Amino acid sequence: MRHLLSIEKLSAEEIRAILASAPRYKLERGRPGSLPLAGQSWALIFSKSSTRTRVSFEVGIRELGGQVMFLNATDIQLGRGELIKDTARVLGRMIHGAVIRTFEQADVEEFAAEARVPTVNALTDHEHPCQILADLFTVQEKRGSLDGLVVTFVGDGGCNVATSWVWAAARLGFELRVAAPAAFQPHPDLLARAGGRVEWTCDPQAAVRGADVLYTDVWVSMGKEAEAPQRLAELADYRLDHALVQLAKPGALVMHCLPAYRGKEIAEDTFEAHASTIFDQAENRLHAQKAVLGWLQG
Ligand code: CP
Ligand code: NVA
Repeated sequence: MRHLLSIEKLSAEEIRAILASAPRYKLERGRPGSLPLAGQSWALIFSKSSTRTRVSFEVGIRELGGQVMFLNATDIQLGRGELIKDTARVLGRMIHGAVIRTFEQADVEEFAAEARVPTVNALTDHEHPCQILADLFTVQEKRGSLDGLVVTFVGDGGCNVATSWVWAAARLGFELRVAAPAAFQPHPDLLARAGGRVEWTCDPQAAVRGADVLYTDVWVSMGKEAEAPQRLAELADYRLDHALVQLAKPGALVMHCLPAYRGKEIAEDTFEAHASTIFDQAENRLHAQKAVLGWLQG
């Protein structure tokens, strides 16, 4: 049985297979060639806020022929202390797949093991694999291929999105540079385990020079709100703005997983100048999610 628990757990072949099918789902929208989820009921179980991930999975599951229910984790008995493994053992007898957004990576993995239905990590504190698959699809679509790619991540290099980028670079062999203050770098153990062409630096100007893609994410991820004042102060020199973009390769893509906080991780004018890429990237969540759902049936 297949799950999407992290980019770390995917092989290069699996990532490439998902990316290869995404364009077909985009092209066939509204006139699908098949309904791979026909007769299936899926649950979205979310402990954190979501716009893109929730809507892209709800729409994607329906458009692939399935039924979907959204369960706010605080509304079900999980919120009153029922164990993940018991919740998983009950739902596993009723649903055909689960999409989970929560805090601990171990909770998604435990759910997958106990429910024994295809399970998707829709963001944990550790990774955001669905986001990075959609991002890779977007880069592939706009650039033609991922060959020779150089991606620079500027900002909170220790966050879930950055960690998924580290694993994507390690698996696919492209160059990833992370520009962040020392306290917000990917953990050295992670970099050692991942390997690949991943470098980090405290110098954002050096990191963006010649890059094909400049990428950022919020400075205060969900669950880190208590650290907001310290994060905003320490990350202030890592804002993506025109001065940085001008050092990148001409025509470099500026990407943001959204939601964006203008004036913090990205300057307002830089965001608006690259809005067409950023909202294509957001739309591609839907097509990439369908590619994931189709792959899970394999
Ligand atoms: N990028 C992303 O995952 O957005 P949501 O938090 O709105 O799902
Ligand atoms: N790093 C962010 C991603 C939001 C989509 C967070 O975890 O809040």
